[in-house]
Amino acid sequence: MASSRHVAVVTGANKGIGFAIVRGLCKQFDGDVYLTGKDEGRGMKAIEALKKEGLNPLFHQLDISDTNSIQNLQTFLQQQYNGLDILVNNAAIANKVDSPASFAEQATVILKVNFWDTLAVCEALFPLLRPHSRVVNVSSIRSATTYKECSDTIKATIRDPNIKMDQIRNLMKEFEEAAKADQVEERGFRKSAYGTSKIGVRVMSFIQQRELAKDTSRPDVIVNSCCPGYVATDMTSHKGTKTIDEGAVTPLYLALLPPNIVSPKGEYLSENTIEHWPS
Ligand SMILES: NC(=O)c1ccc[n+]([C@@H]2O[C@H](COP(=O)([O-])OP(=O)(O)OC[C@H]3O[C@@H](n4cnc5c(N)ncnc54)[C@H](OP(=O)(O)O)[C@@H]3O)[C@@H](O)[C@H]2O)c1
Repeated sequence: MASSRHVAVVTGANKGIGFAIVRGLCKQFDGDVYLTGKDEGRGMKAIEALKKEGLNPLFHQLDISDTNSIQNLQTFLQQQYNGLDILVNNAAIANKVDSPASFAEQATVILKVNFWDTLAVCEALFPLLRPHSRVVNVSSIRSATTYKECSDTIKATIRDPNIKMDQIRNLMKEFEEAAKADQVEERGFRKSAYGTSKIGVRVMSFIQQRELAKDTSRPDVIVNSCCPGYVATDMTSHKGTKTIDEGAVTPLYLALLPPNIVSPKGEYLSENTIEHWPS
């Protein structure tokens, strides 16, 4: 029999900002909070660390690059909760500075995790979202800096208020193909796979909000994207200026938006404030 409790899921939460988002949800959300991660050992260590703080997160394995793993989580949530109230898509990877891989190889890997696999998680879990649920897709300020150096045609696609999911998928594919052909800049992109993937996440969130708003059977489902700021984590080689808890502030604000608010919806936020594409 499914529990009637509310439930939150955070991806890539065994460390870094995701870990701090789980910590914040455990303190502020009235429901079960799932710290998910690729590796059960690393995930359980993170759970133990939070338990020592008197918090009570739960663990579920989730490798967003593994369709079986996504399916297992979907089935689990369906059976145990028959729904989902908060989804924070935080898991991501960035360029490895010392990687011997070519730009094209790195681009494929980065876009796969950050864009395609995040989208796959959404596609699997969105049917479970209940009325008033909240989705936060963690993007980055790099979406804006990368956008600034794209061609006018690409910028127009990104900003198109009627853009469809197929169009943003195609844009991500075009970037991957341009990378393989060593023609990223010639084809109007900036040479940043991470930044491009985060454009994808930001535009994807905008489209998801617009589509979910049409679903009258599930009112008040809200999707936003955000930048956590420059945070000291493994991703930044601990050079970031914010702590992980400071980095979690905007994702937590969006995950805990009160019922029936008018805004933000389908927006991109930094420091709890809506930001638009740069001119
Ligand atoms: N740090 C910053 O300054 C900054 C700035 C802007 C945006 N962001 C964004 O904030 C989010 C968190 O970044 P962070 O700095 O906390 O990075 P991090 O410390 O490197 O943590 C990334 C997390 O994602 C997980 N992950 C990677 N691939 C995964 C997969 N296939 N399935 C499941 N989990 C996966 C990692 O798991 P493993 O430990 O198992 O590899 C880890 O838990 C990311 O979306 C990042 O792009 C960060």
